[in-house]
Amino acid sequence: MERRVTVETLGEMKHLNEPITMLTCYDYPTARSMDDAGIEIIFIGDSVGTNVLGYDSPCDVTMDDMLHHTRAVRRGVKKGLVLVDMPYKSYETPEMALANARRFTDAGADMIKLEGGREIAGIIRFLAENNIAVMAHIGHTPQTFQEGGRVVVGITPEEAKGVYDDALELEAAGAMSVLLECVPAKVTEVITRALSVPTIGIGCGSECDGQVLVVNDLLGWNDHSLRIFKKYDEYYDRSKRHFQGYISDVKSRKFPGEENIFRIKQDAFDSFLTLTEAGSMA
Ligand code: KIV
Repeated sequence: MERRVTVETLGEMKHLNEPITMLTCYDYPTARSMDDAGIEIIFIGDSVGTNVLGYDSPCDVTMDDMLHHTRAVRRGVKKGLVLVDMPYKSYETPEMALANARRFTDAGADMIKLEGGREIAGIIRFLAENNIAVMAHIGHTPQTFQEGGRVVVGITPEEAKGVYDDALELEAAGAMSVLLECVPAKVTEVITRALSVPTIGIGCGSECDGQVLVVNDLLGWNDHSLRIFKKYDEYYDRSKRHFQGYISDVKSRKFPGEENIFRIKQDAFDSFLTLTEAGSMA
């Protein structure tokens, strides 16, 4: 059996310059398939809200939503590291963050992820001191985007220095990894070299220590496309074709076929008919 991916494994991979793979995952069958394929970080993102639950915003996702999906994914993962997003407003104080993080570790999470820069360094420090492995998420942060966030973060020298300082401060506070979203590739490269913990990037170029994508974007379940995605399939269209095939088979009585049914011996069937006839005459 291949060995389990741990937080230490991620550090070793950075050291060996071996890119780390991470994907969002929201359910048991997808978790099994990703784990079998060898994805190192299997991540229950709060993007479950918009991708799976039909919410308008990741901010609508609750602790209960995240715990439900964490348990489902955990059941499917044997080798990968299970990472979970702390939902919006679930880590407002160090004590609240720790209580909620513990609910996730009890549900099977190996590591948790929090959005925010140096303003949450105290929270990350408190979690790290209490043995919670944390990934920090900086740059574009979807939870606070509606409160005046930027799509691409770090295009002016001052802003790029801000992201750089955030990364260093969060590492110093105890973050075991830093996720960067939509930060210019050259800035990300400088940050990746400056940190001793691994960086994971989305929309940040290939020089991060690892990459993450949203599984629905990778498979083509969503009908939108952004330059930061790579679509490997057109699942939405492909599954729709299969649903239409099923509709057509049922309507034309092609399904279920001979191969799908159970049989009864003729004499048992004849006796059954006799019984029903006797029964209907009584
Ligand atoms: O929830 C999520 O999908 C994320 C990714 C954008 C990294 O945080």
